[in-house]
Amino acid sequence: MKVLDWSPESDSFLKKKEIEIHNLYHGELAKNSFQKKEIFGRRSIKMRIRALKRLLRMTGHSTFTGKVLDAGAGDGWCSAYLLENYPSLEEIYTMEINENAIQSLIPKVIDTVNGDNEKVNLVRGSFNNIPLKNHFDYVITMGALHHSDNLYQSFKAIFDSLKDGGYFLAQEPFLRDTVSNDFYHNRGAETINFKGLVEVKNDDRTDIFYRLCEYRTAAYHAGFDIEVKDISLDRANWRRIFMNAVKGKTQTYNLVFCAHKPKAARPRVPTAWEE
Ligand SMILES: C[S@@+](CC[C@H](N)C(=O)[O-])C[C@H]1O[C@@H](n2cnc3c(N)ncnc32)[C@H](O)[C@@H]1O
Repeated sequence: MKVLDWSPESDSFLKKKEIEIHNLYHGELAKNSFQKKEIFGRRSIKMRIRALKRLLRMTGHSTFTGKVLDAGAGDGWCSAYLLENYPSLEEIYTMEINENAIQSLIPKVIDTVNGDNEKVNLVRGSFNNIPLKNHFDYVITMGALHHSDNLYQSFKAIFDSLKDGGYFLAQEPFLRDTVSNDFYHNRGAETINFKGLVEVKNDDRTDIFYRLCEYRTAAYHAGFDIEVKDISLDRANWRRIFMNAVKGKTQTYNLVFCAHKPKAARPRVPTAWEE
């Protein structure tokens, strides 16, 4: 496994606290010993594996080939899964924003699954700032893009990193377009206990349940064609949706999107506010 440093600190949209809390969390996780069955057997990961297979179908391809960027990789389960199940992949860049993930956690997970380590580049970097241009066949974010503080910047950076005809595939939470701005202001002011490790005010980190229209708008203006599917009724979610409805809580839904970079260059959809 090669290690690359793309200096996520130089991303002005990435908050210091976001790096700090994930470094702490991933450091704790890295103390564990892992078994393959546990890595892929967690309920949330089973849901994401189903989402990944669905995303592949949305591209119309039968397998992943070429070069993949797994951005906001967490413990690296998705890269490990891709290595194991899609041997025709040439290269995987597994990206996280923090040191503990890159140095300890992800190598441990990939070694446990016994992937083809030669194909892996471990990258400390941010999806807002990708130095490789026209390089990837696929960029994948599994529950990570909603940690973006500027969706348009993230879509644009990912668009530029893809080859013409490449795909940006994601599974993310979303809220209905009718949710008011007040919801975001109130949530931002709340302090939460992050993974039982540290108290943090939501506004000091980035974890945003964007409205569906915000994903679509950012994708279009970056130049993508996008197909979105609501997968909220996936097995892992229906119980939570039901309980939230009973409690009258703002409902978080779950989507997958397949954003396609057109084969031939086209002018971006113009707006005055995007730059
Ligand atoms: C909810 S976790 C999802 C992890 C993993 N993809 C999974 O499926 O379990 C989101 C991850 O995104 C990472 N992240 C936050 N901001 C990022 C950024 N600007 N670029 C890349 N990753 C980021 C966080 O460190 C965190 O590990």
